[in-house]
Amino acid sequence: SYFKTEAGSLAGKKVLVTAGPTHEAIDPVRFIGNHSSGKMGIALAKECRNRGAEVILVLGPVALPAEYAGITVVKVTSSDEMYQACHDHFEKVDIALMAAAVADYKPETVSEQKIKKAGETTPELKLVKTKDILKSLGAIKSESQVLLGFALETNNEKVNALEKLKTKNADFIVLNSLNDGVTFGSDVNKVTIFTKWGTEIPFDSKSKTAVASDIINTIIDHSKTLSI
Ligand code: CTP
Ligand code: CA
Repeated sequence: SYFKTEAGSLAGKKVLVTAGPTHEAIDPVRFIGNHSSGKMGIALAKECRNRGAEVILVLGPVALPAEYAGITVVKVTSSDEMYQACHDHFEKVDIALMAAAVADYKPETVSEQKIKKAGETTPELKLVKTKDILKSLGAIKSESQVLLGFALETNNEKVNALEKLKTKNADFIVLNSLNDGVTFGSDVNKVTIFTKWGTEIPFDSKSKTAVASDIINTIIDHSKTLSI
């Protein structure tokens, strides 16, 4: 456990964490989703709690438990709900960790009735972009707030991660490469952290709990600049 005087403590800090996928409704029984298990974000939320922070976890629909001792959990389903929950809480937090796998597209309209297969035509789903939550927070963050995002890449990883760091005005981007043999739902992860100060910190493959600790330590290492 961590105490106020201990290095690595987050006592007195407020942290917002997003985790899990989002589900974008097509009709009352169907949605567009993804394979995110929520494990990385939940590990981050627990790590921050263990270090004494006040934690708000905005959690998308996951199979894992949605109640955690000492963590305020805000359950959401869609990207719009996640966006709203994040904006409801962002202003008062010191650190925001955006680990959710937010859907990039949603159906333009949601059918009020179940779409039936009867009939000659195959339905075509018109999609529209969802709001980029990380980018929207990057646009309003104050000097003293720390904003961290993830980047899930399969190719051109570094270029793409650096692009996300810049365009979303994040302080840190955690690159999650699917090329490293890491699969969805896994308990382990291999990451590289890119910082806005131009540093690139590679880590070995390890448990998501250990990755969460590496991420928090990296943030704290930069805390002078971030004035947390
Ligand atoms: N993100 C977000 N809102 C979205 C999409 C992504 O907040 N609508 C956040 C994720 O939580 C993550 C970061 O942006 O912290 C990067 O997500 P990623 O899917 O890797 O990148 P995108 O910007 O969505 O671009 P692409 O999927 O095309 O690589
Ligand atoms: Ca995306």
